[in-house]
Amino acid sequence: MAVALVTGSGGLIGSEAVRHFAGLGLEVVGIDNDMRQEFFGAEASTAWNVQRLTAELGSAYEHHGVDIRDRDAVARIFQRYGKNIAVVIHAAAQPSHDWAVRDPYTDFDVNAGGTLTMLQNTREYCIEAPFIHCSTNKVYGDTPNRLPLVEQETRWELDPAHPYYDGITEDMSIDGCLHSIFGASKVAADVMAQEYGRYFGMKTAIFRGGTLTGPAHSATELHGFLGYVMRANMERRTYRIFGYKGKQVRDAIHSHDVLSAFEAFFRNPGSAKVYNLGGGRHSNCSNLEAFALAEKISGTPMITEYVDDNRIGDHQWWIGSMAAFQADYPQWKQVYDVPMILQEIYEANVDKWVPAS
Ligand SMILES: NC(=O)c1ccc[n+]([C@@H]2O[C@H](COP(=O)([O-])OP(=O)(O)OC[C@H]3O[C@@H](n4cnc5c(N)ncnc54)[C@H](O)[C@@H]3O)[C@@H](O)[C@H]2O)c1
Repeated sequence: MAVALVTGSGGLIGSEAVRHFAGLGLEVVGIDNDMRQEFFGAEASTAWNVQRLTAELGSAYEHHGVDIRDRDAVARIFQRYGKNIAVVIHAAAQPSHDWAVRDPYTDFDVNAGGTLTMLQNTREYCIEAPFIHCSTNKVYGDTPNRLPLVEQETRWELDPAHPYYDGITEDMSIDGCLHSIFGASKVAADVMAQEYGRYFGMKTAIFRGGTLTGPAHSATELHGFLGYVMRANMERRTYRIFGYKGKQVRDAIHSHDVLSAFEAFFRNPGSAKVYNLGGGRHSNCSNLEAFALAEKISGTPMITEYVDDNRIGDHQWWIGSMAAFQADYPQWKQVYDVPMILQEIYEANVDKWVPAS
């Protein structure tokens, strides 16, 4: 039987990949050691999500609590399924640029070393399988911050005549900028996944995500923007705004739309393909705009605190272009926008995210 191998299967994108590919009739094998808990504390644990997948999917889902840094254990999983592996979705990572600076070795070993381990095993055991790599817009470092942004009432914005107004394209340089430690480990993984496509002819796709979001995120302050806005609002926590007057803009794409893009690549894969992956003009917001939406949905005011300094390397404005992906996959249609995403996160967590008593 055809197998989808998913790393980070308890996380936002990994868990959505498990459900999506199981829904297509593939047997799904997941790898996740709940390291998100180690990174961000108990509230960010993804164990609940693995339990949910196991309960929902039964024998269609097999979980391995393996660390992707453990080359022997990962190789054993590949050996077991061999050429039955029809697709690899690599979504395990240390995902926060703020966390990476605390422990650069671990960040690099997980993000760069772990990706190499997945690529090399795919090459050895199932070279025909499309390899979908989750990269990030942080590979462009702080170059987007050099754009001529104009301050508006609730957001920073580009002039509509600017070539990147409809979204930054993949031709933006990744050189000569500050990446953060996380950005650098993700660049290494991104370039290696491209190289396994070019050098070995493998069917690799590198998706450079903007804000990826959805109700399956174990949202926490250091990772999971929209989820954490909604969580802070619902639990009456103080949301700390880091610089840029709270007007920093992000595009946001729901995990459902991410997975429909992954499926399109799985069905018709190319080699060494690099795509930005985000909400684009269709789905984006500033911090202040997200707060207003969250308040409207829950009926509860946000509690915020302003911190003057922005996060190092943080983007002041990011809207990515999906034009390259859409040119290759014209049938792909984005469903969600920011209000829909926040509404869904609210409804999914209304019983769980309540103020501490
Ligand atoms: N969520 C976003 O906004 C966003 C944006 C851009 C790129 N990305 C990238 O997309 C991918 C998925 O992100 P996500 O939001 O689903 O992250 P997530 O943290 O929700 O999921 C990642 C999962 O990987 C697991 N993991 C971490 N280290 C591991 C290890 N050594 N071995 C096994 N499992 C391990 C974690 O426990 C977690 O369940 C990552 O590569 C991330 O960098 C995410």
